[in-house]
Amino acid sequence: MAVQRTFVMVKPDGVRRGLVGEVVSRLERKGLRLTRARMLTVDADLASRHYAEHVGKDFYSDLEAFITSGPVLAMEWEGEEAVEVTRGLMGVTDPKKALPGTIRGDFGLVVTENIVHGSDSPASAERELGLFFG
Ligand code: RTP
Ligand code: MG
Repeated sequence: MAVQRTFVMVKPDGVRRGLVGEVVSRLERKGLRLTRARMLTVDADLASRHYAEHVGKDFYSDLEAFITSGPVLAMEWEGEEAVEVTRGLMGVTDPKKALPGTIRGDFGLVVTENIVHGSDSPASAERELGLFFG
């Protein structure tokens, strides 16, 4: 048993398209617990801290423009192996390649607009939860 917490965010496209309930419902039905939530609009400074590993890459300007384009739902989720389990429910980064049955596989088509973020490790989760809830 390894109960973890992870940071999950419904991105601006997910909020605009009315997919908040879909994302929350899928994680709840899996057995994860929603423990904190906050609606906000990410600014350029928070975007660069959240996506620090990607600043300077060729796709970063598109990523920044997208993630700051409207409100997001920032959440903390807890449960057994919550980091890996959430990444599995989300599907791989590119929605074109994400399997049907995953959030990105079922609802996405374009790599920038992939509906949901989930921390990629327990260390990332702690860092990201600190940024959004600290
Ligand atoms: P995220 O951090 O948003 O949950 O996504 P991820 O772990 O699956 O993917 P990551 O490698 O961290 O990339 C962050 C976001 O950058 C955009 N991206 N675009 N054009 C491209 O080649 C490219 N690669 C990544 C995606 O929107 C991805 O979610
Ligand atoms: Mg990532």
